[in-house]
Amino acid sequence: MVSPISPLSILFLLLLSLSMPASSLLQENFVQCLNLNSKTTYPFHTTIYTPNDASFKTILDTTAMNLRCLLPSSPKPEFIFTPLQDSHVQAAVICSKKLGIHLRVRSGGHDYEGVSYVSENETPFIVIDLLKLRGINVDIKTKTAWIQAGATIGEVYYRIYEKSSVLGYPAGLCTSLGVGGHITGGAYGTMMRKYGLGADNVLDAEIVDANGNILDREKMGEDLFWAIRGGGGGSFGIVLWWKIKLVQVPPTVTVFTVTKSLEQGATKLLHRWQEVAPFIDENLFIRVIIQPSSVVGNKTQRTITTTYNAVFLGEARTLLQVMKKSFPELGLTRKDCEETSWIKSVLYIANFPSDTPLEVLLKGKPTFKNFFKAKSDFVKEPIPENGIEGLWQRLLVEDSPLLIWNPYGGKMSEFSESDSPFPHRNGTLYKIQYLTLWQDGDKNAAKHIDWIRKLYNYMTPYVSKFPREAYVNYRDLDLGINSKNSTSYIEASAWGYRYFKDNFNKLVKIKTRVDPENVFRHEQSIPPLPI
Ligand SMILES: Cc1cc2nc3c(=O)[nH]c(=O)nc-3n(C[C@H](O)[C@H](O)[C@H](O)COP(=O)(O)OP(=O)(O)OC[C@H]3O[C@@H](n4cnc5c(N)ncnc54)[C@H](O)[C@@H]3O)c2cc1C
Ligand SMILES: *[C@@H]1O[C@H](CO)[C@@H](O)[C@H](O)[C@H]1NC(C)=O
Ligand SMILES: *[C@@H]1O[C@H](CO)[C@@H](O)[C@H](O)[C@H]1NC(C)=O
Ligand SMILES: *[C@@H]1O[C@H](CO)[C@@H](O)[C@H](O)[C@H]1NC(C)=O
Repeated sequence: MVSPISPLSILFLLLLSLSMPASSLLQENFVQCLNLNSKTTYPFHTTIYTPNDASFKTILDTTAMNLRCLLPSSPKPEFIFTPLQDSHVQAAVICSKKLGIHLRVRSGGHDYEGVSYVSENETPFIVIDLLKLRGINVDIKTKTAWIQAGATIGEVYYRIYEKSSVLGYPAGLCTSLGVGGHITGGAYGTMMRKYGLGADNVLDAEIVDANGNILDREKMGEDLFWAIRGGGGGSFGIVLWWKIKLVQVPPTVTVFTVTKSLEQGATKLLHRWQEVAPFIDENLFIRVIIQPSSVVGNKTQRTITTTYNAVFLGEARTLLQVMKKSFPELGLTRKDCEETSWIKSVLYIANFPSDTPLEVLLKGKPTFKNFFKAKSDFVKEPIPENGIEGLWQRLLVEDSPLLIWNPYGGKMSEFSESDSPFPHRNGTLYKIQYLTLWQDGDKNAAKHIDWIRKLYNYMTPYVSKFPREAYVNYRDLDLGINSKNSTSYIEASAWGYRYFKDNFNKLVKIKTRVDPENVFRHEQSIPPLPI
């Protein structure tokens, strides 16, 4: 509803604006506009943080996961708006359009390139941060839940567990992920081989579109509903709510972590893992975490450790039978196995110490905050041993590299490439995530980034081709032709086909229809075609 403005209040605003610096003028205009476009008035000043506010830095930093995007040299928003109701998000879209100010949307802040809170090429900009919109309503009877975009995936797991210990949801391993950005890009986790992705288990959604309208599945139509389940965040609208389908989890699950170094035959074992992990019982998810480490007692000698980190949806006895039959090379014993509940396996795989209370899931606490650069690859044929050995040589010369190999197969293979925008399905053995981490700001950043680019080049012959696929939730601005500007179709197709394969064209078509003016945009958003 739009209420009329009195001439007096216009005069007042005019006077106010004359006495203020540009950014607070923008803020004043925004607040004024919010009040005009909200169902109820609200003291919106209390929900807006400008760089002059003492708490601005805390709010900006709180969920930002990549410290590389928080350096003083990174552009900062004019202000951060933290809506308290769905209608505030609608008003924010309308008002940023009216005032012609570029907006970014943030839910959990885990974006690998920080595009939810840093705009490299377009300033000024504002951030709409959904951190206060974190409702979760679980309905056991229908085995569904409505979850709000600002909630973390850990909160979702906890609220489900509160109502039933035999229901869960198949999404990410890191518990501080925001469901707003996470599910829009796919959302994989330990149950993906049994149930698919988080995005594969969405039944309905509510989004704010480019005109500030709230649309549910019926109103948005099947094309747009398809696009938001895997097409990546920040392109089609602002997701307010997801309706998710809960999945059955057994009362007892089994976890294990077994580490093998080069001296213990890591190379042959990893080679074997590639042949086994994507085809093994779909209740079993064995990922491999690969890092250099020092040989105990010898500072000068480094080795590579491969850590087999697993969750099995079932009891240890059954797991041991599966392993004996399919992967005896790992030598798993009963002593390696720990039986636990599904909710505790969530903490285990997120690497919390074993005595951590479950309530840590409600704190949205990030377990990972670093300067980092990452990349991803999908593997379709086992990498030969000599290829793996070349990889070791490269890892051994970098300060703090990390690889995570994540098996596919099972349910993931049952979807066709176009069922959702996420195309990495049947035929994918596993995904590799490459990371390099550092702590000393931008001093040696260029060196680390150069290292990971060279590593990525080295891997070319061993991974998917035409296109070389990548996971949109592991956003990598290197994939663009011009990393800072992907507003044209040609530029965007450089990364578009890698993330989405042929689904990219359908995403562009949908974008052109629902957001022709490109209100929702960032360095790697889906571009609309010129009309
Ligand atoms: C430590 C760590 C662990 C991870 N583990 C996993 C994992 O186990 N599985 C997995 O699949 N991925 C994982 N990821 C990747 C993660 O899924 C993506 O980074 C995801 O985009 C994060 O969502 P977010 O809301 O936290 O991030 P944000 O930075 O808030 O958002 C990411 C993108 O989505 C957009 N966006 C945010 N909110 C909304 C909204 N409400 N509506 C529309 N667009 C929105 C943003 O503008 C941005 O483009 C991990 C990332 C990190 C840093
Ligand atoms: C430590 O590493 C060096 C260099 O590789 C090697 O020569 C030496 O034997 C190692 N010492 C021990 C105690 O392993
Ligand atoms: C996956 O692909 C393989 C090999 O092309 C094929 O044999 C199999 O039937 C496919 N699986 C599904 C579920 O479509
Ligand atoms: C991005 O590229 C497009 C087309 O190539 C151009 O029109 C636009 O001005 C560029 N934007 C920026 C911010 O550089």
